[in-house]
Amino acid sequence: MCFTITLHLNSLSLIFASMENLLTQIDNLKQAINHFSSDDVNVAEVFRIQFIGSNGSVKALMGEMKNVAPENKKAMGQALNDLKLLAENKWEELKNLINRQEATGKNKTDLTLPGDSLSLGSRHPISIVRNKIVSIFQRLGFAIAEGPEIEDDWHNFTALNLPENHPARDMQDTFYVSQDPAWMLRTHTSSVQVREMEKGELPIRIICPGRVYRNETISARAHCFFHQVEGLYIADDVSFADLKQTLYFFVKEMFGEDIKVRFRPSYFPFTEPSAEMDISCLICGGKGCNVCKHTGWVEILGCGMVHPNVLENCGIDSKKYSGFAFGMGIERITMLKYQIKDLRIFSENDVRFLKQFESAV
Ligand code: PHE
Repeated sequence: MCFTITLHLNSLSLIFASMENLLTQIDNLKQAINHFSSDDVNVAEVFRIQFIGSNGSVKALMGEMKNVAPENKKAMGQALNDLKLLAENKWEELKNLINRQEATGKNKTDLTLPGDSLSLGSRHPISIVRNKIVSIFQRLGFAIAEGPEIEDDWHNFTALNLPENHPARDMQDTFYVSQDPAWMLRTHTSSVQVREMEKGELPIRIICPGRVYRNETISARAHCFFHQVEGLYIADDVSFADLKQTLYFFVKEMFGEDIKVRFRPSYFPFTEPSAEMDISCLICGGKGCNVCKHTGWVEILGCGMVHPNVLENCGIDSKKYSGFAFGMGIERITMLKYQIKDLRIFSENDVRFLKQFESAV
């Protein structure tokens, strides 16, 4: 029970005019004392002041003895002594309880001890690599652009030169949220590039990091969601040489000076010409291993010159402006960098895996 008794001692002498009244008050106090319990030092101290202390209620009742009729004094004295004893016993009981707890360590606070150190979590490897990629491009003057993960058909496909029934739409197994009109989970962050181009503020030099979704069977090498960083540069006179130089810089910063790079011709509907970029295998150094399927090379990104149709779709004069775009999967780069063989581990929240990475300071 917690401590709830408050007595207005000044008014006691009025109340105790009669013997019965005094006995009732003694009974009430006895009940309150019996029910009292606490293991809190401060609450116990309040008990002591209220019942045992020189200004306490037991002392105050003792003071009422002088008003008691002589024939009742003996009985009243006996009742008050009982009350006093009860309060003192309870006080002993409380002290013992608190002492026992102090001895066993409960409720014990040693203010001289140093505070508990806060252990910070570690950053997720995907975040570490994302931050690294972003910071490299930021040094080249690229700004971060973000957009919605639920996209409409225009921004995810049509504006990017994938009109309805275009076979390349099948390349990106899409999770649809609704069919007509078509809303979907974005399959790439190229949709963010469209949104930026539509703003019409040129030149554009952006990177678009973010989560994307594809309806793929989950395996060691594929997941139904993953992360990308795509990039876009549009200005007066952008050439394929600019694209190559930018990506060379990125790769050397990311993987070191010794890394080798090659471009292979490829196809994307939104770029022309298009290419894929490979780097020399980080695991075997280019000699050939399981990771690079014994070719010595691993693909890390797709890129190309922005297709004139895409520029026009977004209201940009393709005769006046040109640009390049590229896109890479962060999971893939993280796997190469940390030699992780199964990308499912990124989303399993296994602390034993996660705590091996840099602390989140
Ligand atoms: N959007 C492509 C993808 O998700 C990547 C890419 C971006 C390729 C820009 C070329 C140019 O696979």
